[in-house]
Amino acid sequence: MGIVIVTGASSGMGREFVKQICEHGGVDAVWAVARRKDRLEELQDSLGSVVVPVECDLTDQQEIKKLADMLAEQKTQVDMLVNCAGFAKFGAYDEINLTDALGMIDLDVRALVYLTQTALPYMGEGGCVVQIASTAAFQPLPDMNVYAACKAFVLSYSRALNDELQERAISVTTVCPGWTKTEFFDVAEQGTSPKAVGNQLFMSTPAHVVASALRAARSHREMCVPGLFNKLHLFFSKIIPDSLIMRIWKMLKG
Ligand SMILES: NC(=O)c1ccc[n+]([C@@H]2O[C@H](COP(=O)([O-])OP(=O)(O)OC[C@H]3O[C@@H](n4cnc5c(N)ncnc54)[C@H](OP(=O)(O)O)[C@@H]3O)[C@@H](O)[C@H]2O)c1
Repeated sequence: MGIVIVTGASSGMGREFVKQICEHGGVDAVWAVARRKDRLEELQDSLGSVVVPVECDLTDQQEIKKLADMLAEQKTQVDMLVNCAGFAKFGAYDEINLTDALGMIDLDVRALVYLTQTALPYMGEGGCVVQIASTAAFQPLPDMNVYAACKAFVLSYSRALNDELQERAISVTTVCPGWTKTEFFDVAEQGTSPKAVGNQLFMSTPAHVVASALRAARSHREMCVPGLFNKLHLFFSKIIPDSLIMRIWKMLKG
């Protein structure tokens, strides 16, 4: 047995990953990573000492190194890494400040690559990495331009990495959820024009997305697109030109 590392564990899908992984059992510890320590401690109180709260701002270069140091000190085996921390800001290029635009790249892309590269030396045969991308990865999206580009990076990087890691029998499962009911929207809409992105159709729940993601990861599948609507989205994104999808997106946006 080894440990599981889950980022974004204080809320939404990350918190649900911690819950479902603990319920499944068979792990020594679940390192629950996020900035809000009180939320992580609540999770530990409800799930037991198997949950190890790790307070960390993953966009801070000194703080993220703490995780690398913890792994180096404990020399423990990592069975699973779930890169779930992420945020979006909705709005056009001139509505999103540079700090937020670069912050999305720092968290959604840079921290994800940092943690993946850092955890891989501690993984053995059968290990898995779960990368939370999004259906936003399937095409460019006006009013979510940086976020969609970050998720396209995650999808492309992770699929290629999955191929490279076959020789070590380690899998990388990229999960592409559509709209899911979490605090994501509070962050994405804070400080931007109201309903900058208003087409939030077919909302899923974290429980459904995470159950599908864990099934896919345990079967070592390369991709997981939970829900019929999102599967159709993937299909049509492969046959319809991006320019047309962007037009439809803007029409739905209202
Ligand atoms: N909800 C959706 O509709 C949707 C759809 C597709 C994909 N996604 C993706 O799903 C993932 C999870 O999002 P969610 O929906 O569960 O949103 P959420 O409820 O807002 O959770 C985001 C998590 O990221 C953590 N986080 C944010 N900034 C951080 C930082 N600087 N350092 C460390 N942790 C940080 C937050 O914890 P703290 O604030 O405590 O640090 C929180 O635990 C994200 O990658 C998101 O892009 C979401």
